[in-house]
Amino acid sequence: MSNQVEHKQQAPLLDLKQVTKRVKNATTGEEEHTILQGLDLHIKLGESVAIVGASGSGKSTLLGIMAGLDQASKGEVWLNGKPMHTLDEDERAAVRADGVGFVFQNFQLLPALTAVENVSLPLEMSGQHSLKQCRILATEWLNKVGLGHRLTHSPTQLSGGEQQRVAIARAFACQPKVLFADEPTGNLDRNTGKYIIDLLFELNQQNNTSLVLVTHDEHLAQRCQRTIHIDDGKIIADSLLAQANASAQGANP
Ligand SMILES: Nc1ncnc2c1ncn2[C@@H]1O[C@H](COP(=O)(O)OP(=O)(O)O)[C@@H](O)[C@H]1O
Ligand SMILES: [Mg+2]
Repeated sequence: MSNQVEHKQQAPLLDLKQVTKRVKNATTGEEEHTILQGLDLHIKLGESVAIVGASGSGKSTLLGIMAGLDQASKGEVWLNGKPMHTLDEDERAAVRADGVGFVFQNFQLLPALTAVENVSLPLEMSGQHSLKQCRILATEWLNKVGLGHRLTHSPTQLSGGEQQRVAIARAFACQPKVLFADEPTGNLDRNTGKYIIDLLFELNQQNNTSLVLVTHDEHLAQRCQRTIHIDDGKIIADSLLAQANASAQGANP
């Protein structure tokens, strides 16, 4: 029993082993395009990781597989100690609901709901709190992202930066161990983007939430502890491995 607990504590938050993604050609139905080619990757709790690379290199596909939204064609994906590669859609949804947050480039708020309802909904769906508690938590999180004065606004009444702050409050309200974000500043102007970046790292530090961010934004990538460069479905550079190699060479000149 104590060994199991120890193993769980030491296991990486996210562990990818030889992950390959192939997609079928929509018209011929034949398997022909390999998007990801045998990726190995380990990410720890609290780590902040930027995934960079040219458009079409496979970043969003990789993020979707890491977050359990999509499945690899081959290989293993362990998220929060769970073997995602062996789980069906409902089981993966349960893993996502317990410890995984998402933020997207286009915010993806529900347009018919107010800001506080958007943040409250996933809390209500988790069934862990009463409706009243969910609304209190949602209000607290909107206050934390500086939107206490916008609780009953609908997404169309909010600016892009405000909508992204609602999306961040919604993700963090569920106390995720890891937050996945695909181009979170992609639709924002520079100043608003900077506010969002500061907010993500503040919450990363306060909550020890891992951040895994796909980004073209150099400022955002620079703030991360680690940068992983993807090209044509392969990891061509990982700053963590580069640092480890450099210090090994320093130790054995
Ligand atoms: N479901 C799919 N079916 C066919 N091709 C896809 C699919 N998803 C992505 N692709 C292709 O795979 C490549 C990588 O896509 P993506 O992961 O979105 O790249 P990135 O996010 O780095 O721009 C692109 O060439 C894209 O057109
Ligand atoms: Mg993409």
